[in-house]
Amino acid sequence: MESLGVLLTFPMNSYLEEELSRRCKLFRLWEPPTPESRRDFLRENAGSIRALVGNTTVGADAETIDLLPGLEIVASFSVGLDKVDLAKCREKGIRVANTPDVLTEDVADLAIGLAVSTMRRICESDRYVRAGKWESHGDYKLTTKFSGKAVGILGLGRIGSAIAKRAEAFGCPISYHSRSRKPDTGYKYYSNAVDLAANCQVLVVACPLTEATRRIISREVIDALGPKGVLINIGRGPHVDEPELAKALVEGRLGGAGLDVFAHEPRVPEGLCALENVVLLPHVGSGTWETEKAMADLVLGNLEAHVLNKPLLTPVV
Ligand code: DGY
Repeated sequence: MESLGVLLTFPMNSYLEEELSRRCKLFRLWEPPTPESRRDFLRENAGSIRALVGNTTVGADAETIDLLPGLEIVASFSVGLDKVDLAKCREKGIRVANTPDVLTEDVADLAIGLAVSTMRRICESDRYVRAGKWESHGDYKLTTKFSGKAVGILGLGRIGSAIAKRAEAFGCPISYHSRSRKPDTGYKYYSNAVDLAANCQVLVVACPLTEATRRIISREVIDALGPKGVLINIGRGPHVDEPELAKALVEGRLGGAGLDVFAHEPRVPEGLCALENVVLLPHVGSGTWETEKAMADLVLGNLEAHVLNKPLLTPVV
C-alpha cells in the first residue's frame, strides 16, 4: 500500500495512525485554522489522495469529495456513516466501507451501563462521596430499579438486538420500533416512536441517523415517556430535539437521561451539566482498546483489499 495516498480527517486511534503512516502515504488534516485553509490543503494534495479515513466527527462531505477528484475509497473508522455523503460517493463511483460488528458488544454494554447508572444515580453518588458529603451509613438518596423495567428500543439492528439481549438478562420485557418488523424475536413491535415511548420506561435510541430518524425524539415522544421515563441515547445527537429534552429534564417532565452522543459534539446542550438526573459521556460507545484495535484493523483491511482490487471486507457502497 506504500503508494496509496490516505487522508486522515481527524486524530483517531494512535495504532491506526501509526499503521497508516508506516504502510501508506499519510496526509493528516484536522483542526484547520479556517475552512479556506482546509480547502487549500485539500487542493494542494488532491493529486496524491486516493483514500479517505474519516470518523464520527469529520467524514467525507460533498465539498471534500468534490475537492478530491482522485478519491477512490472512503474507509470510515465508525459504523455510523452519517458524516459520509453516500449519495455523492455512489454518483462518483467511490467505494465506502465502515466498521460494523466489531463494536456491537461495547456499544450495547455501554447502553446498559448508561441505563443502570442513570437510574441508580451512580455518577451522582460518586460525586457525593468525592465531595466528602458521606457522613454516615444510610444517608443516601433512594434511586430507581432497572431490573424488570420495560425497555423500548428504537432501531432493532445489530446494536439494538445486542441491547435487547442484555436487557432480557435483567428481566426486562422488550419492545421496539424499527424500519422493519422482526417477528422472530418475540419482542412487541410498535409502528411509531410515540407509542413505543408510551409503553416503556427506558427508551434506548439505537438506530442510524437518517432523514427519517432525525429528531425522532420529539417533544411528543419525550412526553409519552413521561416523568418516570428514562432516555438513553447511544445513536446520534441529532436523533433528539435537544432543547426539548433539556426543558423536559429541568421541568421534571422526563425522569432522566443517559447520553453518549450530542448534536454538536463536543458541545453539550445548555442546562444539562447542572442536572443530577443525567449522565453525560463524550461519545465513547466503541472506546475500548480491544474494539478500537479491531476497528483499525478493519479500516486497514479495507484499504488493503482496495489496493489489491479485491472485494472490501465490510462494503457499504
Ligand atoms: C460509530 O462507530 O458510529 C459509533 O458512534 C461509535 O460509538
